[in-house]
Amino acid sequence: MDKTYWYKDAVFYQIWPRSFKDGDGDGMGDLYGVLEKLDYIRDLGCTAIWFSPLYPSPGVDCGYDVSDYMDISGEFGGMEAFRKVLEGAHERGMKVIMDLVVNHTSTEHEWFLKSRQRIDPYTDYYIWRDPKAGGRLPNNWDSMFGGKAWQWDDVRGQYYLHLFAPEQADLNMDNPLVREEIKKIMTFWLDMGVDGFREDVITFISKREGLPDDKLLPASKGIFHYSHGPRLHEYLSEFRRDVLGKYDCLVLAEAPLVTPKKALEYITESDDNELDMMIQFETMCADCLFVDYVRMPFSLRKLKRRFSSWQKSLEGKGWNMLYLENHDHSRVVSRYGSEEFRGESAKLLACCYLFQKGTPFIFQGQELGMINYPARTLEDYQDVQTLNTRTSLSVQRRLRIYSKASRDHARTPVQWSGKKHAGFSEAEPWFHVNPGYTEINAEDQQKDPQSVLNFYRKAVELRKSIPVVKNGSYREYMPLSGRFYVYERYDTDASLVVICRFSSSPGRFRAPKGIDLSEYELILSNYDDAPLTKRGFDARSWECRVYLKNNK
Ligand code: GLC
Repeated sequence: MDKTYWYKDAVFYQIWPRSFKDGDGDGMGDLYGVLEKLDYIRDLGCTAIWFSPLYPSPGVDCGYDVSDYMDISGEFGGMEAFRKVLEGAHERGMKVIMDLVVNHTSTEHEWFLKSRQRIDPYTDYYIWRDPKAGGRLPNNWDSMFGGKAWQWDDVRGQYYLHLFAPEQADLNMDNPLVREEIKKIMTFWLDMGVDGFREDVITFISKREGLPDDKLLPASKGIFHYSHGPRLHEYLSEFRRDVLGKYDCLVLAEAPLVTPKKALEYITESDDNELDMMIQFETMCADCLFVDYVRMPFSLRKLKRRFSSWQKSLEGKGWNMLYLENHDHSRVVSRYGSEEFRGESAKLLACCYLFQKGTPFIFQGQELGMINYPARTLEDYQDVQTLNTRTSLSVQRRLRIYSKASRDHARTPVQWSGKKHAGFSEAEPWFHVNPGYTEINAEDQQKDPQSVLNFYRKAVELRKSIPVVKNGSYREYMPLSGRFYVYERYDTDASLVVICRFSSSPGRFRAPKGIDLSEYELILSNYDDAPLTKRGFDARSWECRVYLKNNK
């Protein structure tokens, strides 16, 4: 099947179903809620939806522990509701992609239940090992969610590998039968009309033969023995050849630690490339060291270096996936922006990525400028990763880190209105509603032309209507500035310049050589007026401006 590359024109909206909208009144988000809000997503200008997992699951990792890949959880409305959503999205011209979580399954999955009893063909579906001499663990790898990556199973009398929670057992992808299962799952959803997959930690599926100890960098937990493992290319090519290549679908891969150079091994454009886009983490680490829970002061220079490195390295070769929020990171206004200048900084953050080259993703609530939840105690957190991370520190320090880094901040219910429970549900919601909902909610923002929501709508509309945003080259100015992020998208027909002042204090913007703003038209900004002075302007707190010049 020839690819149409539809995803290059798409703007995605990510739905994390539990907290999006409750449609059946049980306090948990579901697909009936999604049906109510399809017009809202379309009106934001989005043309595609990524669903975080909707499958049946015990919910240890909020759905990323799947117990049946070919069904939709009854909590979310089951298959019937899903088919309605799929149809409703397609009717509105929106594509739908599913989360495909196949590095691991829930330990309640039928495969695991049979594997632990050595019932064929499931016996080798997982990574089982005997203890080493002296009863030691099979190797020294750590779990991403704290503790060791091995769990003893009494039924089988062996250890199994779990790179995440003990309830998420890693599949043995080296077993061809497992790969056949994955292909069946892919085919099932694609035949139903789904438009592609976001593949969860897919770069972890091939583990180094022999599962050696991490001797070089034990602090890295073994990651270099399973990230981009020895047979990853082979498996991804097999999935493309046998299934994905037969559909006009998007294959988006989550890839912790991936660099642009590495990404190009998978995404260099062709009809049979292994992947279409990758979710990199580099631009999400401008205020942390590799992972969100090791905090650093926010560095604009670091953020800019990484934005620019992805933009420049992929130019003409591969396609970028652009994002600033998802269900695994806290709210970006609270990280890279300012809660004090919430509206201004939320709008600036929109501009800083929406005009880059690639396919942008907006995470539910980001378009409202939602901020972190003001948690006070450890009991305020629920996320399995948060609660198992940095547990050797004092409670005070943990609370300080979690207040910035916890994934739970992204997982509070979407604030639809100023009414009870933020209009998310009639019933008591499954998780805290951010008390800020009376100030920050969709209903009020829809009526307010100056709202963050309406700004996002305008920005998305502009992005879709200006060709240079899709295809133009990228150039960064003032790379050493710690306050301004300035980039240009250009081709022979046009030049679009985005200027962002990342600071609560005002400061003078001097246009770089070659850019005469008086020749440009201002097409978007987060202040009512935008006076120019000779060769620049006095930028206010978190001011951003987008200028366009047509050369024709
Ligand atoms: C991915 C998901 C995350 C999940 C983990 C384990 O990183 O985005 O939410 O906890 O994989 O499946």
